[in-house]
Amino acid sequence: MKFFVDTAEIDQIVELNDLGMVDGVTTNPSLIMKSGRDFIEVTKDISTIVSGPVSAEVVATDAGGMIEQGRRLANLAKNIAVKVPLTWAGLKACKTLTDEGFMVNVTLCFSANQALLAAKAGATFISPFIGRLDDINLDGMDLIEDIRAIYDNYEFDTQILAASIRNVNHILESARIGADVITAPPAVIKKMVDHPLTDKGLDAFLADWARTGQQILWQSSYRSRVSYTPGRIYSKR
Ligand code: E4P
Repeated sequence: MKFFVDTAEIDQIVELNDLGMVDGVTTNPSLIMKSGRDFIEVTKDISTIVSGPVSAEVVATDAGGMIEQGRRLANLAKNIAVKVPLTWAGLKACKTLTDEGFMVNVTLCFSANQALLAAKAGATFISPFIGRLDDINLDGMDLIEDIRAIYDNYEFDTQILAASIRNVNHILESARIGADVITAPPAVIKKMVDHPLTDKGLDAFLADWARTGQQILWQSSYRSRVSYTPGRIYSKR
């Protein structure tokens, strides 16, 4: 499963990218607004840091405008995926831009029928929004499941990019269902490591290690070796 980060904050992208956790980035006009940065500049910066797809969203609402903006955005860097909304104009732009060889992420998907249309229009990615469906008491994971089944039935190449992820369970469920990609805020990705038993176990191991009185030292041969004072553990008891 690929991990995209859903942010335009450079420091957060760099932090996770250095850990090998970033296969791509998604942005949207709200995230650009939050960053306080110039859209074009921040998009160029992100696409230099990350080698995978970087989604940049058009803001025109007619197909011609989307195509023109999409071409401009795609020309910023080789790894730009043009993001278009799931409207007829967006699907038309998707078809034209993918025919021209650009990556297209069709966003704001809330139904399996919409996802089917996006795949037929040649979308590289479809972005079903899990959290926003949950917000209106629908189950966002049902949508991911339906799209997975439909795309598999007909062997569509469009990648399912599970979006609007609000918690770690959304990531786990997306992985179980077989979404190709998740995009999540950095804070949610970071939370995936948390487990109280890990913390408890580590505390216990470190406390016992302190009782041994040992240290792990570097040798000149660059091999680590445990040094200890014989009898020390026993003399303490
Ligand atoms: C990603 O492409 C979307 O823009 C994003 O995941 C939306 O998330 P939200 O519903 O939390 O704003």
